[in-house]
Amino acid sequence: MGIDVVILGYGAIGQAVHGLLAEHRSEVRVLGVMDRASLAETDHCRAGAPGSDRVLGPAGLKVPVLGLSRAIEIADLVIECASPSAIRAHGPRITGAGTDLLIASLGALADGRLHGMLTAGPGRCHLSTGAIGGLDLIRASAGTIKAIELETRKLPEALLHPGLPERLRGSITGTTDSGTPKLVFTGSVPEAVQSFPSNINVAAALGLAAGNMDLVDVRIIADPGAVLTSHTITVRGDCGNYRFEIQNFPDPENPATSALTARSMASGVLRLAGRGSHFI
Ligand SMILES: NC(=O)c1ccc[n+]([C@@H]2O[C@H](COP(=O)([O-])OP(=O)(O)OC[C@H]3O[C@@H](n4cnc5c(N)ncnc54)[C@H](O)[C@@H]3O)[C@@H](O)[C@H]2O)c1
Repeated sequence: MGIDVVILGYGAIGQAVHGLLAEHRSEVRVLGVMDRASLAETDHCRAGAPGSDRVLGPAGLKVPVLGLSRAIEIADLVIECASPSAIRAHGPRITGAGTDLLIASLGALADGRLHGMLTAGPGRCHLSTGAIGGLDLIRASAGTIKAIELETRKLPEALLHPGLPERLRGSITGTTDSGTPKLVFTGSVPEAVQSFPSNINVAAALGLAAGNMDLVDVRIIADPGAVLTSHTITVRGDCGNYRFEIQNFPDPENPATSALTARSMASGVLRLAGRGSHFI
């Protein structure tokens, strides 16, 4: 009974998911993790091969660092906690080999072609609810929705990343200097994902749940006084009008991530493992 999983990406979320799943060892066995180095030398990292003896994890939870071939071979499920680029590079091979994939970096799926490849199977493609809720309701009303607005408010440093266009960087860092919140981005989901690939997965989650990315308008506010990361989601449609306000504490290890995300992923994995009763 239970399922065997491998974690792809061992940063703030990956490590937290590992810790949370360790509390449920009889249902979920974490067989290993994949990191940038092991994925770069995939074929040399098969179990027993020279160079495959690295381990990661806290004392008592150490697991081997695996290459992709080995992970696909032994896991029922790969839990992605890395980046959209990791999904682009490795996702199709995982589901194509018949291994299931749980995705945190939903921004990658703003690319409809990649989404199609991942859902073609035979492995199943599961989408994490991540940092927000209400996606069940949006999914249930898909096809009847007229518009979705997302306003995300984050600390300026939670929006910065090396690939950020200079104009946006200046606008965001300017809020730290001024001490005043500022609307730094408005646009579509693909535009949001292009400018903030790892920071605005929530926008892609809304578009995926609604079955249409074009319905979602995204606004991002850099707020130097933000203690919490907030997402205000407004949905208008023929089934009704909905408004969710979600305020998350940032993950202490990575202010760009909400502490809730790892818990959402672990909760999803336990559901896949068949543990407990679940809302569907
Ligand atoms: N769905 C959501 O609500 C939500 C919320 C927060 C974060 N996320 C996603 O989760 C991802 C991980 O978040 P985090 O806070 O743990 O980030 P992190 O930076 O703390 O850790 C990410 C880890 O993955 C590794 N990694 C990145 N790209 C990789 C690749 N191509 N191959 C192998 N390893 C790779 C990094 O080296 C790092 O160790 C984010 O990039 C973001 O896309 C989703």
